[in-house]
Amino acid sequence: MLEALRSGRLSLGPFVERFERELAEWLGVSDAVAVSSGTAGLHLGVRALGWGAGDEVLTSPFSFVASANCLLYEGARPTFCDVDPVTLNLDPKRAAGAVGPNTAGVLPVDILGYPAAMREFERLAAQHGLGLLQDACEALGARDAEGAAVGSRGVSAVFAFYANKQLTTGEGGMVVPADPDAAARMRSERNQGRAPDMGWVAHERVGFNYRLTELQAALGVAQLERARELLGEREAAANRYVERLRQSGGEPAGEGDPAALVLPCADRGRERRSWFVFAVRVPTGADRDAVVADLAQRGVESKAYMPCIHLLEPYRERFGHRRGELPVAEEASERLLALPFFPGMEEAQVERVCEALEEALRGNWT
Ligand SMILES: Cc1ncc(COP(=O)(O)O)c(C=O)c1O
Repeated sequence: MLEALRSGRLSLGPFVERFERELAEWLGVSDAVAVSSGTAGLHLGVRALGWGAGDEVLTSPFSFVASANCLLYEGARPTFCDVDPVTLNLDPKRAAGAVGPNTAGVLPVDILGYPAAMREFERLAAQHGLGLLQDACEALGARDAEGAAVGSRGVSAVFAFYANKQLTTGEGGMVVPADPDAAARMRSERNQGRAPDMGWVAHERVGFNYRLTELQAALGVAQLERARELLGEREAAANRYVERLRQSGGEPAGEGDPAALVLPCADRGRERRSWFVFAVRVPTGADRDAVVADLAQRGVESKAYMPCIHLLEPYRERFGHRRGELPVAEEASERLLALPFFPGMEEAQVERVCEALEEALRGNWT
């Protein structure tokens, strides 16, 4: 970062190119386009696929709002399909069942860092001639069913580097484009519609300011050098939680009683989660919001995680969505609780959170 500062070139310089090149190498892909946020990357991804007015895109209701907002920016409509109860990712069977005459694409999300069922979505997309955009904002470092790095399948994929992400630039994002044409268009659109050889006030299309600064890119380069270490520290913290919470009766999703304390699902086959947050589902009948308040009183910060997108005010108003439409996602969103989680979290810190959680769960039933 000091090198970037001292160079006097704070934007549109060599660090952005270097960050793009090094992240692409790290993922094993030929190119990557740096942008100012994951949301900006998703927006450019939607534009590259040409989704717009009259198009419907199958996507997950259990996600951060940006994965659906990016469709609205271009006048496309999200068709929310329910999620898999174990992984909480968009369920490929539900998506297949929702294909209609206006369906133009699929936008799966690797939620909580667990890889989406891309093989199935690729098949569905090929069968119906649909576009595919992967929201991998929470999943840098995850591996898919073939054991390949998430984002390396040749499908457009978007990563995010906000402060809470596995790798951070403060704010930032990266798109792995599906092909060189898409990459060129994204590089132009992130820079106010300029082509690489154009002057400052020449524009070949309407674009945006979605540029990553040199300082952010320099931070990204430095973070990437430590990526394995950072991911390993997150995994170690998650393993500590899983081990400890099994003693409180918790079982990974898909393994134990689904009405009891449910931990994040274990990796299946060659799939590998990249740990983003550590979120548990409180037992059925426990008052999750009261548990959050109780934990806060015990000095432990936790978060209700996270509302279903179709039930957020703008989506209810615009599309008339109602509770009950997508029961698996809704139930997960009513029970999930994100616990304190950061790289290097020590055993004693995990123990303190788990003891507080046990006590909070004892006292807060509906
Ligand atoms: C699933 C998902 N999609 C999109 C985003 C948007 O990324 P950003 O906050 O960098 O715009 C995030 C991150 O917050 C996310 O978790």
